[in-house]
Amino acid sequence: MATSLNRRDWLKSNSLAALALGFSIPSMGMGNEEGMLRSFGMAQGLINLGSNENPYGISPKAKEALLAMVAESHRYQFNVASLSDFEKEIAKYYQVGADQIVATAGSGDALGKLARHFNKGSLVTATPTFATLPNTAKKIGTKVIEVPLTPDKVHDLPAMLRAIDNNTGLVYICNPANPSSTVLSTQALKDFCIEASKKAVIVIDEAYIDFLDDPESKSMISLIDKHPNVIVVRTFSKIHAMAGLRVGFVVGHPAIIRALDENYFTNSQINISNLAAAAALASLQDEAHRASCKQKNAAARSYTFNALKEMNIACVPSHTNFLFFPLGKYPGDFAKDMLAKNVILRSNSYPDGKWGRVSVGTLDEMKQFINILKADWQG
Ligand SMILES: Cc1ncc(COP(=O)(O)O)c(C=O)c1O
Repeated sequence: MATSLNRRDWLKSNSLAALALGFSIPSMGMGNEEGMLRSFGMAQGLINLGSNENPYGISPKAKEALLAMVAESHRYQFNVASLSDFEKEIAKYYQVGADQIVATAGSGDALGKLARHFNKGSLVTATPTFATLPNTAKKIGTKVIEVPLTPDKVHDLPAMLRAIDNNTGLVYICNPANPSSTVLSTQALKDFCIEASKKAVIVIDEAYIDFLDDPESKSMISLIDKHPNVIVVRTFSKIHAMAGLRVGFVVGHPAIIRALDENYFTNSQINISNLAAAAALASLQDEAHRASCKQKNAAARSYTFNALKEMNIACVPSHTNFLFFPLGKYPGDFAKDMLAKNVILRSNSYPDGKWGRVSVGTLDEMKQFINILKADWQG
């Protein structure tokens, strides 16, 4: 690592560069990856615990498929035999029809486009939540009704149901939730979707669902056939560790998928690179890699949860690859202060106080994080 003087100089020069790019280092906020410092500074020794990435890397099978696909990178996806069935293969894995899937360049791409597509009527969402869909809605002038999480940091489904009216076009629920890391009871969420989808389109963002046990039994994909207003968004960025490869998809009723495909999702068959598509298909077949990532995540998460508890920091019990914790009386800008100590994470102020969100990195990274935090914790 650079000496502390060099590191200070480096941080200073990069802070200026980042500001020139429109990033705000002090207040990165939470629940949104847009405009966020990502692997910024990794080479200089920063520990990046800010973007809920999977630190264990892509599946060896995905890597092999990706490298093999390099030879076909001069071709469009539809001219590569092994990729012509990309959406069909995804559909087969999730036991839906090929006409129920539309591929996107990461799920963030899907969330932004969904906000644009369903732009008639208001949006009902939680606060805080992952911000891509609500922020896009706000940008295009959609009225956004934000329903606070419960004191336990869970989506307040009864209050969200009450917030839906005849003008509501879209409802967004992130389950498991970002930044709060909580999960809803499967039955409660199903009941909500069934009821709410009588009035509006319900988008369930399942970016972190693979960190749960038996995720498919908890997915809302099972509702789609009977409840055509329910849409599920999934990503390969988290458990599949493919954040940089940009693959996500929307699962919905064929009528909705057709409408999306004809609108903002046009050309979905070529918006993912051949390399990313090949890696995604291979990754789906590597259950063992996913299980190993999940198990290592759970161990590092449990270590961090307990270490924070010993410091009297009571994290919300997490069902994801990040932890959400109250900052108590912390006097300054926590994310900024941690960045100065080589750790990228998030913090924000809410009506009930300041909160931090730290991604679960490797056990070694979490030990470093805890040691750095312990050095002069002021909460
Ligand atoms: C809840 C949630 N949804 C969607 C995304 C977008 O991820 P990607 O665009 O990489 O699929 C993220 C990223 O952190 C997220 O936390």
